[in-house]
Amino acid sequence: MERRSVLTLGAAGAAALVAGGAGLLASPAWADSPKAAEAARKTGADSLRGYGARINLPIGSALTPQDIEQWAEISGGQFSVVTGANAMKWQTVEPTTQGVYDWTDADQLVAFAHANHQLVRGHTLLWHNQLPNWLTAGVAAGTISKTQLWSLLEKHIFTELGRYKGKIWQWDVANEFFTDSNPSGINPNDWWVVNAGEDIIAQAFKWAHEADPHALLFYNDYNVTGEDGTNAKHDAVFAWVQQQRDAGVPIHGVGTQAHLDTQYGFDPQRFQTDLEHYASIGLKIAVTEADVRTFVSDATTQTPTDSLSQFAQPFEYSAMMQAAIAVPEVISFTVWGWTDADSWVPGTFKGEGYACIYDVNQQPKQAYYSLLQDLKIAAEGAPRRAPLPRA
Ligand code: XIL
Repeated sequence: MERRSVLTLGAAGAAALVAGGAGLLASPAWADSPKAAEAARKTGADSLRGYGARINLPIGSALTPQDIEQWAEISGGQFSVVTGANAMKWQTVEPTTQGVYDWTDADQLVAFAHANHQLVRGHTLLWHNQLPNWLTAGVAAGTISKTQLWSLLEKHIFTELGRYKGKIWQWDVANEFFTDSNPSGINPNDWWVVNAGEDIIAQAFKWAHEADPHALLFYNDYNVTGEDGTNAKHDAVFAWVQQQRDAGVPIHGVGTQAHLDTQYGFDPQRFQTDLEHYASIGLKIAVTEADVRTFVSDATTQTPTDSLSQFAQPFEYSAMMQAAIAVPEVISFTVWGWTDADSWVPGTFKGEGYACIYDVNQQPKQAYYSLLQDLKIAAEGAPRRAPLPRA
């Protein structure tokens, strides 16, 4: 297996932007020591981003406005790349009236990233969810035609990418177009496919490339690294991306969301093999939305109901990180929110939670230390046994 080298970052200058401490490290305070919580809050070398920087693997999180306003120390200190949990979605930036924009959250995210020497992942331009009501209602009523829909998307892409031109490292251009069936394929019932036709996907990549030629453009989806057990979705996405690239469509990478759930099990070998498979055709890979959910007592405390899941959760995080570390074409590893306090999981998956690396009180969990340890071992090498003294 090729080791991650110092030359693996996709965007020129990205390494320079990822500050956060590449210097020599004091030995970190580990789990259960009284200093552990403090260490987890620190900016700099002794943090996820600090160790990530030493192996050229930017470590990221999705951020909400609350993460930025209330918990800036961790949001800024632990991560070197950030994604707006919702800030850059169409529904957020052009919410109520066509042509009337609200950049409050997106501007806040980009300013925060700049202040903290962080890269930004733009998320997302073409998705069936979180579209403005004026758009979906207009299409439903027939007041927005197919041709108009194409022009509206073109305008959306040029406006948003134009505003942040040169400030976004990676864009998730298209999100979640494939079915979960076996075999998988582009979902014929997807809102965009129904109303604009499948060709809109390739066109979105072309517009995005024209609007910001230096941004890396990603196709992003879940279950695309074997999580479905069959690999059907991986195979379908792989074949489609390969075909698009052969046709000249500017797709630079695949984003694997990596939303895991302890009830389904996880195959780390499959995950890594799939990452390598994407890399084999020259694609970059980003782990874009990692989290590991499990059944919990209630949405407030999010205490796992099965004690085994407290082992499975950090194990699965660690397995994903180790695979990402082993495959040099993985250019970033992002968790979908770092604290259980504002995770999307309890609101989306009934009875589940505990999906993040910090708990509901912003205290680091075992999963945090597992990731830190994986990065530390990759950066410094595993501790070795001292040779026995000779008689
Ligand atoms: C989620 C956000 O985290 C929530 O706040 C919002 O209510 C719904 O969307 N896949 C994606 C993300 O690509 O955009 C989703 O984010 C989570 C699933």
